[in-house]
Formats: sequence, C-alpha cells, structure tokens
Amino acid sequence: GPNGRIVIVTNRLPVTANLLEDGRWHLVSSSGGLASALRGVKDVELLFVGWPGISVPEADRSSITEKLLTERCVPVFLNEEMMDEYYSGYCNNILWPLFHYLGLPQGYKFNKAKDFESQLKSYTEANQMFADTVSEIWKEGDVIWCHDYHLMLLPQLLKQSNRNMKVGWFLHTPFPSSEVYQALPNREALLKAVLEADLVGFHTYGYARHFVSACTSLLGLEGCLGGIEFKGRIVKVDAFPIGIDAQHFKESLDRVTVKDKIAELKSTFAGRKVMLGVDRLDMIKGLLQKLLAFEKFLEENKGRASKVVLVQIAVPTRSDVPEYQELKSQVHEMVGRVNGKFGTFETLPIMHLDTTIKFETLCALYAITDVALITSLRDGMNLVSYEYVACQEANKGVLILSECAGAAQSLGAGAIIVNPWNTAEVARAMKRALDMLPDEREKRHRHNYEIVSAHTAQDWAENYVWALNAATIKAPLGT
Ligand code: UDP
Ligand code: G6P
Repeated sequence: GPNGRIVIVTNRLPVTANLLEDGRWHLVSSSGGLASALRGVKDVELLFVGWPGISVPEADRSSITEKLLTERCVPVFLNEEMMDEYYSGYCNNILWPLFHYLGLPQGYKFNKAKDFESQLKSYTEANQMFADTVSEIWKEGDVIWCHDYHLMLLPQLLKQSNRNMKVGWFLHTPFPSSEVYQALPNREALLKAVLEADLVGFHTYGYARHFVSACTSLLGLEGCLGGIEFKGRIVKVDAFPIGIDAQHFKESLDRVTVKDKIAELKSTFAGRKVMLGVDRLDMIKGLLQKLLAFEKFLEENKGRASKVVLVQIAVPTRSDVPEYQELKSQVHEMVGRVNGKFGTFETLPIMHLDTTIKFETLCALYAITDVALITSLRDGMNLVSYEYVACQEANKGVLILSECAGAAQSLGAGAIIVNPWNTAEVARAMKRALDMLPDEREKRHRHNYEIVSAHTAQDWAENYVWALNAATIKAPLGT
C-alpha cells in the first residue's frame, strides 16, 4: 500500500555484475531504456528483483547477493541453459521480434517447432523462479510491479501463491495488433496470465488498445480501453507514457568532466556538423535504413561529405542470438561501403562504434550534436530522443524521429517526423535539419524541451503506482 515498498521486478536488474581480470566482481549500470528509466525514479522505497546479467558460479552467489543488496537489488540467478532458452530464445528471438512486427523468426515454422516447446518450458520455469524470489521477500503492504515481455506469466504465478499481493504489469515494448499477435502458438496463456494483474500498463493508447482487442478477439472477453472483464472482476488497462530525469542530464552538463569532454569533441569534429545515433544494435532500431538514407543524402549533396559526420554509437546487445550477429555484420558492411565511397584521407563520413559509453561521454555527445537521428522501425517509447532534447538547451539541435517510436506521440510537433522505410524522405529530412534556421530550431526545441522536462520518470512511476493502489481487487467468486 501507500506506506509499503514498491518491489520492481525486471528480467534485467538496473545493475549488471561483471567479472574483472583480477577475479573480482564489480557492478556496472545496465544498458537499455528500462534500466535508465528506473534509475530516474527517486523518493520512494524501491526494491529491485531481477537477473544480474551474467551466469554466476554457485560459489560466488552469496557474496554477489550481498553486494547487490547495497544497491537495493535482489538477484534471480539464471543458469546457462535458461539464458539460452528463456532469455535469448523465447524472450528475444520470439516475443521481441513478434511484438515489433518482425514476425516469428525465419525457419521457425519449418524446423524449429521443438525449440519453441523447450524455450517456452524454460520461459515458464524462469518466471516461476522470479515468482519464488518475490514471494520470499514479500511483506504485507508491498506493491509488486512486474515489467516487460520477459515476465508475462508472473502476475498469475504471484496471485496463485498469494491472492493478497497487489500486482501490476507494464510492457515497455509495443503491443502489436492482434492480427500479428495471434501468430504466437501459446497466445491465450500469456494474455490470461497478464490479466491476473490488478493493473496492466503500456506507453501509448495504441498499444493498450491492441492488448484489449487481443483479449476480446482471442479470449472472447468483454472489454474496452480502460478495463477488461475477467473472472468476475475488471482488470484496469491504461496508458502511462514514461519519461526521463531531465534535470539529471541537464545538470551533468555543468560538471567539469563533461565540459572537458565537450571541448574535446568539438575540436575533434571542428568544421563539421554532427549527426548522432545512439542505439542498441537491434533490428528494431532501423540502423540499415538510417545508413541507406545517409548514403542517399551524400549522393545528393556531394560537397557535404567532408562537412558532416554521422556518429553512430551501436551499444552491444543480445549477442548470443544469431539474428543480432548477422545484423552486426550487415551494418559493418554498409558503414564500410559508405565510408569507402565518400571518405577521403582527411575525413570519413561515418564514425561507427560498437561500444557502450559512459554517462558523461553520452551527455557531452548529446550536447554537441546538431541533428539526432532516430529511425526505429518500431520502438516502445525511445528514451534516447528524450535525453537528446534534455541536453540541447544551449544548441537547440534538431531531432529527426521515426513515426514508429512511441516518442513520436509526445515529441511529434517539435521533431521532424519520418517514415524510416522511406529512404528519400529521411535523406531530405537530414538536409532540412542541417540547414534549419535558428528561429525554427528554437521553436521546435522549446516544444520538445517543455514536454521532456515536465513528464519525468518519477511522475510516470508515481502515476502508475497510484493507479495500481486505486485499482480495487475483488476476489473471484468462491474464494
Ligand atoms: N545507453 C546505455 N549505454 C550506452 C548508451 C546509451 O545504456 O552506452 C542508454 C541510453 O542513455 C538510453 C537507453 O540506453 O537511456 C536506451 O533506451 P531507449 O529507450 O532509447 O531504447 P532501448 O535500448 O530500451 O530499446
Ligand atoms: C528494451 C527492453 C528492456 C531491456 C532493454 C535492454 O528496452 O524493453 O526490458 O532491458 O531493451 O535489453 P537486454 O536484453 O539487454 O535487457
């Protein structure tokens, strides 16, 4: 309840355990939007339950558990097989592409049916492990907030073990049209398990609507945007768009380390306009589409190849999934092609880095960027767009944003909105953004900045938890 703790359950904890060369374990910040957003939630008593991101030998588990507790994290240790079948398999090779309209993986239908069964089994077992850990730490008054596609069975498993738990579930990806979702062989079971929650949340009304229509058409339930009738009660379904801790980004720009970095980057890119992409190396981010558009832009504006640089930070992710490995080599091939075609001894038009970067470097990069480029083919929200805006009070740079990112709903009026599949349109947007006059830049930036600073991660969490507490639990008939 209002006085208890908020227990946040995510597949990936906000910190990841790392084994260094000296044989000692260290904790580092996890990559990705969910982890970033949760770091921005303050002023409430939080406890995190999740996977520390690596397989940890039995012998080290108790010391890591202790270390994690200092960060208010309780670990769920997954073994190698689970990381393979549950995480890389069912979560990231089945649910992730399906929820982003990429369909089920090629070959799945013809020879991978057995894999599906064993991956689903592992998914169920993993969800049970998360449920067991939550049950162990649960105290009267706690609110349990489950996150994302990794944990769709969790609301049901938690309620089975304890009807009195307050349980919410929130999806950070799109929920696809039911015409797409229906391809999932075990489509009913996941929906029913989610519906055991007291509140089901999404980033946009569109995703919430898709979820409701999947429940009505595939389960035959009665429902509308707002709620679904299930087992004699109304399950609340609503949109809660996430935000960032804009102040934290803005304040970082005053740090000496960041100022030094800004000066350094400015001299590195002196005489050139900087376009920036920051994306996990994921097929949903439209990296190939972005490169294709940049190539077209350079073809149409030959004189500008040495006057512009596209800095692409490609954050490593899910590298055990073959589709991600393949994407990486395709991206490298395209980068090589464009640099080969338009590069000179002095300058290369693309600076592509397969790396994570430190928070300070990220802020400095955002600050010196003239045009940020987000070309997601589908994206639940996309926080990089928000973070860029938060760091642009001085420069008032332009944001090019895909219409297929959730963020297009909120930053639509300030950004140049593009269809990432329309190469010519994206190329034109690049030129327009680079040449935009100060007045228009100021106006567009002002619009975005107000939204980004007004809708914080903190507000998002408060609104959600308030709604979760307000959602009445009526026990099903007969209990
Ligand atoms: N980010 C990161 N490591 C990096 C660079 C960026 O963790 O080296 C962060 C970035 O600041 C942002 C998040 O990763 O908060 C990406 O979130 P987004 O919602 O844009 O996409 P996601 O990765 O969740 O699909
Ligand atoms: C997306 C998902 C998150 C996930 C993140 C990073 O934002 O919604 O749940 O944590 O990507 O992916 P990873 O597989 O490394 O956790």
